[in-house]
Amino acid sequence: MNRDLSLLQPYPFEKLTALKAEVTPPADLEHIALSIGEPKHPAPPFVAECLINNIDKLANYPTTKGLPELREAIANWCSRRFNLNEGTLSAEDNVLPVNGTREAIFAFTQAAVNRAPDALVISPNPFYQIYEGAAYLAGAEPYYLNCLADNNFIPDYDAVPEEVWQRCQLLFLCSPSNPTGAVTNLETLKKLIELSDKYDFIVASDECYSEIYLDEENAPVGLLQACAELGRDDYKNCVVMHSLSKRSNLPGLRSGFVAGDAALLKPFLSYRTYHGCSMPIQHQLASIAAWGDEDHVLDNRDQYRHKFDAVIRILEPVMDVQHPDASFYLWAKTPIADDKFAQGLFASQNVTVLPGRYLSRETEGKLPGAGFVRMALVATVEECVEAANRIREYVESL
Ligand SMILES: Cc1ncc(COP(=O)(O)O)c(C=O)c1O
Repeated sequence: MNRDLSLLQPYPFEKLTALKAEVTPPADLEHIALSIGEPKHPAPPFVAECLINNIDKLANYPTTKGLPELREAIANWCSRRFNLNEGTLSAEDNVLPVNGTREAIFAFTQAAVNRAPDALVISPNPFYQIYEGAAYLAGAEPYYLNCLADNNFIPDYDAVPEEVWQRCQLLFLCSPSNPTGAVTNLETLKKLIELSDKYDFIVASDECYSEIYLDEENAPVGLLQACAELGRDDYKNCVVMHSLSKRSNLPGLRSGFVAGDAALLKPFLSYRTYHGCSMPIQHQLASIAAWGDEDHVLDNRDQYRHKFDAVIRILEPVMDVQHPDASFYLWAKTPIADDKFAQGLFASQNVTVLPGRYLSRETEGKLPGAGFVRMALVATVEECVEAANRIREYVESL
């Protein structure tokens, strides 16, 4: 077997299962999971209908490049949403459908890394673990940039050593961030684009939470938007990854896209043709319907806003919790070690949260996720409020 497989770390949820197995939760309280980032709001009915109405497409092989109509719908959505200069994001050359951002992150990394012995893939820390595994299996070494509270959970890019930029082949951004909810601003994005020119690396921005935000007047900015502002209409060195999983509550549709530099997407398409990961035609048609509608997305945000307000109101008096810039995660500082906190909360209140240390790696003597837990506000408002009340009771008992 591939020797690099041994470099893969257990997934955070495996560690969480082991942590919880050491204790027994109270039998009289129903379990509430705030640990998994799976959207729970209902999927838009018109998308499900479209899927059912096209079930006969099971009889056809889909193409890797996807239907022109889907690429057109994606290019239109992305251009509208990120104020791209008209006609610069071509449905033919700058967009590829993918089966969710997870596989896109993994596959893109395999296509992007040139396997030089000193190859680095830069990742935020804490982070979505696929960046790391994708780097290892592409023959690169992950390099972690700590996202700390004193820099609003954005890496201090100015402190990155020159030697690291020189070795960097691919830089991952996660904006809005899982788990912190922090959004990388335009100024930083532009700076990273300049660095990508100077040191010749690719910037891949995982923006799968871009449509979950709390302030309607302040939608998260994106990497292609930064390119547009720079007049970089070929999106050189830049790709973004987007998904319908969170935006449209369709994690089971496995639908997203990669968009950006045509010179990167062409070899990526070639890689994907061999990889064999084309999206079923009925899923493509359902995706066209989803990308074409914003009403359900607005309603989705309303529901999250309501939950954040309710939960923060309950927790604020006892914990250091703040509204995130975006995403559906509350990244809460814990009064005791985060793993002990999560275990104690489960043992006394039957509520599961994810210890931040499981989402990060130790670098420079720091474990940047430690001292935080991630709460995904994906359940119903009633359940989230019930969980918040129990968390408050637990904190008060410490
Ligand atoms: C940061 C981040 N990127 C990517 C994904 C993958 O999402 P999907 O494959 O459903 O688009 C997730 C899922 O939780 C995530 O948190």
